[in-house]
Amino acid sequence: MMPIRLDSRLMHIAALVRGGSVADVGCDHGKLGYYLISTDRAKRVIATDISAPSLKKAEELFYINGVNNRAETRLGDGLKPIDDGEADIIIIAGLGGDVISTILKSAYDEGKRYESYILSPNTHPEKVRRILCEIEQEIVDDAMVKSGGKYYTVIKSQRGKQELDEMQQLFGAFYDRDVVFAERAERELEFINNALKENNSALQLMERKQMLESALKMCKKRG
Ligand SMILES: C[S@@+](CC[C@H](N)C(=O)[O-])C[C@H]1O[C@@H](n2cnc3c(N)ncnc32)[C@H](O)[C@@H]1O
Repeated sequence: MMPIRLDSRLMHIAALVRGGSVADVGCDHGKLGYYLISTDRAKRVIATDISAPSLKKAEELFYINGVNNRAETRLGDGLKPIDDGEADIIIIAGLGGDVISTILKSAYDEGKRYESYILSPNTHPEKVRRILCEIEQEIVDDAMVKSGGKYYTVIKSQRGKQELDEMQQLFGAFYDRDVVFAERAERELEFINNALKENNSALQLMERKQMLESALKMCKKRG
């Protein structure tokens, strides 16, 4: 089996998997699934994608490395190819928050109740957090990860109930203890302050600035 290197974002996701069977929805290259099998972090992987050419890359990776007895591929949209109870953890990473939210809601409306999710939306993490509360999932891990100079959100949830306030929906269930979030918030604040020098009546920017300042105050309070 060829060893594989993942970037920090995918490594962070992999570290949140602790055994069992995993579905990697929107797997593309399939590297995460292969890593989980080759390091025995997962017993079984179902890697899915809506695109046949993407899925082919994953299929080849599994086949060439002889893990296709534990890692299978399925073509399809969102959670449609995964039955309830087939996977202990559903991973959806590298898709937009709108798409992830739609996938989660459709599965819930179809009556599917998965145990746990690991989600890494490229955009709109707040929409993902809101939908998790709606579909009776409780966020147990929520962190910002820096990878290749960019910031990514990674959220893990499990069955349960939870309410999040507006700041937690926007910035993370545990944003006040997330040092990487604080670093990113400082940067965004600097960017907004510069933008406001040019246009000091931009209402949306002013509102965002206030939210970020309050969030950073909470981070500092917690130390
Ligand atoms: C940017 S790649 C992310 C790959 C990998 N998950 C990662 O995080 O590195 C997004 C993948 O999601 C797939 N995709 C987009 N919409 C999808 C959907 N509704 N259902 C399943 N896969 C989807 C795309 O075809 C693409 O391969």
